[in-house]
Amino acid sequence: MVVDITGLKAAICGGFGGIGQAICKVLLEQGVLCLAVLDLKEDKDSLEAWRKSYPTQKIFFNYIDVAEKSVVEESMRAAKEKMGGLDIFMNSSGILNEINPELCIQVNLLGTIYTSLTAVNLMGKHKGGNGGIVINVTSVLGLEPSHPIAVYTASKHGGIGFTRSISHEFHYNKTGLAFIAVCPGLTNTKLVQNPQNAATFDYVEGEMAKILTAKTQEADICGENIVKAMRTGKTGSIWICDLGTLREIEMPVHWTLQF
Ligand SMILES: NC(=O)c1ccc[n+]([C@@H]2O[C@H](COP(=O)([O-])OP(=O)(O)OC[C@H]3O[C@@H](n4cnc5c(N)ncnc54)[C@H](O)[C@@H]3O)[C@@H](O)[C@H]2O)c1
Repeated sequence: MVVDITGLKAAICGGFGGIGQAICKVLLEQGVLCLAVLDLKEDKDSLEAWRKSYPTQKIFFNYIDVAEKSVVEESMRAAKEKMGGLDIFMNSSGILNEINPELCIQVNLLGTIYTSLTAVNLMGKHKGGNGGIVINVTSVLGLEPSHPIAVYTASKHGGIGFTRSISHEFHYNKTGLAFIAVCPGLTNTKLVQNPQNAATFDYVEGEMAKILTAKTQEADICGENIVKAMRTGKTGSIWICDLGTLREIEMPVHWTLQF
């Protein structure tokens, strides 16, 4: 299946971040009717530029803090109301903070959980919605360990486990809502440009610095590939977008229930 984005209504959380902005641009180019940009802070310059380039499309900002469940519910509900519907929801918010594990888990993992659960309630067919697609931007560090940033890595593994579970056909058949996880590799955004508090212990700071000398991709190509993955509408699919490429991966099965 290839989802036609033309005329759809989309909300992008973390939409003013590096990867979030790239996603917003591609969705606007591909003809979304309405775009709700949800983030901690309004970026007036980006909004103005997008409104100039896409004058017929409705583009607006809503405050969200993904670490606060009630704020998430209120912000996403208000965005749906303003657009008169919601077809696509993407969560591209995130932080890298190893010295405040609570905050890192709250934003990266609980944020993913809060936004996804709210999407089910707002978009699910079982609740009178039309179904649609949810994309959770996780990381290649949701798939592989990374010794200098253990907390961030745990938060991203959690995001993958949650998305794989909630994307199950059993949910999909009830809700009509496809859940997809995308895993970017190192991408040139603020998250990795001079990051603060980005090593679990002082003694791994050098190891973290080494990681940051690895090859990166630009946010624009990452955003393009994330939208490509989204357009498959394939619930439960997991995609790596790294160094300008996109590929779907199969997760290994280590264990199943025995009856
Ligand atoms: N840049 C990379 O190398 C890389 C690699 C893999 C995965 N990722 C993931 O991609 C996503 C986007 O990151 P990015 O690289 O664009 O970083 P970024 O720092 O440019 O953007 C992050 C966005 O999240 C928003 N945000 C932070 N805390 C929030 C909160 N509590 N509530 C709502 N929004 C909040 C920020 O305001 C910002 O707009 C993140 O989930 C990140 O973990 C990034």
